[in-house]
Amino acid sequence: MKVAKVGDLVAACAQLSASAGMTDRSVSLAIRSAMLTADPTAKVMATREVFRMWRAGLLEFAFTCPMPDVPARPDAPQLLHPGAMPKRGKGSAHGRLALIHALAHIEFVAIDLALDAAGRFGAEMGRQFVDDWLGVAADEAMHFALLTRRLRTLGCFYGALPAHDGLWDAARDTAYDVAARLAIVPMVLEARGLDVTPGGIEKFARAGDERTARVLQRILDDEIRHVRFGTMHFIDVCKKRGESPPEAWKMLVARHFHGAVKPPFNDSARHQAGLSREFMAGVA
Ligand SMILES: [Fe+2]
Ligand SMILES: [Fe+2]
Repeated sequence: MKVAKVGDLVAACAQLSASAGMTDRSVSLAIRSAMLTADPTAKVMATREVFRMWRAGLLEFAFTCPMPDVPARPDAPQLLHPGAMPKRGKGSAHGRLALIHALAHIEFVAIDLALDAAGRFGAEMGRQFVDDWLGVAADEAMHFALLTRRLRTLGCFYGALPAHDGLWDAARDTAYDVAARLAIVPMVLEARGLDVTPGGIEKFARAGDERTARVLQRILDDEIRHVRFGTMHFIDVCKKRGESPPEAWKMLVARHFHGAVKPPFNDSARHQAGLSREFMAGVA
């Protein structure tokens, strides 16, 4: 398929609006275009392009269009309710393939989660927030690309297996408030990734799949940074609102997260990410 670059889309939109007497190089329009790109390869390219253009100063810190309620999705993978997902078959080669596929899907949704954070809350949070979250989106696009490359090398592809529906629920539930979004997406969901990824790395290394183990190690290193951005900006928001960050977090987790934030924790990774014991004591 022909992949439209966000630069082209933005230029085309700018031309249209210019002919109507307006100009629109707003970062929100570029972000929205990437979120509304369904094809996975095209979304990866569009996301990198938004980040590149933002960093090069080609997009304006302007928020002229709303973020979509739900990003565009490809026809495959088929999305299933978590309870309807087939069992992965622990320890088997197929089980490991299914795990890579599940992780690729998480990264695919993470691209849109990061884009949405930048586009939805950037106006209120400022340039640094947009820098950070567009950087995260570019990381997630890279993670997705690395995992789908592993799938292809192993004779599979993204979309070959069903995937977990409902990863966007947290985005929908927290679209009303940046503190709620940060409390749940980076500080609960991505932080959970810090806890479970070392086990995954070990599993692939034990099975002799060093390449996948290395990909997961790289993802883990990046995810520590993502959780740190989340925690940092969350603390900033709470301070501005005169709230105690651990108390506010505890309340938001109780309201929006229906699972349990429970050990075993990857203490060193959480510590590097700024999720201090003060935070964890409140919810674990
Ligand atoms: Fe990721
Ligand atoms: Fe992430």
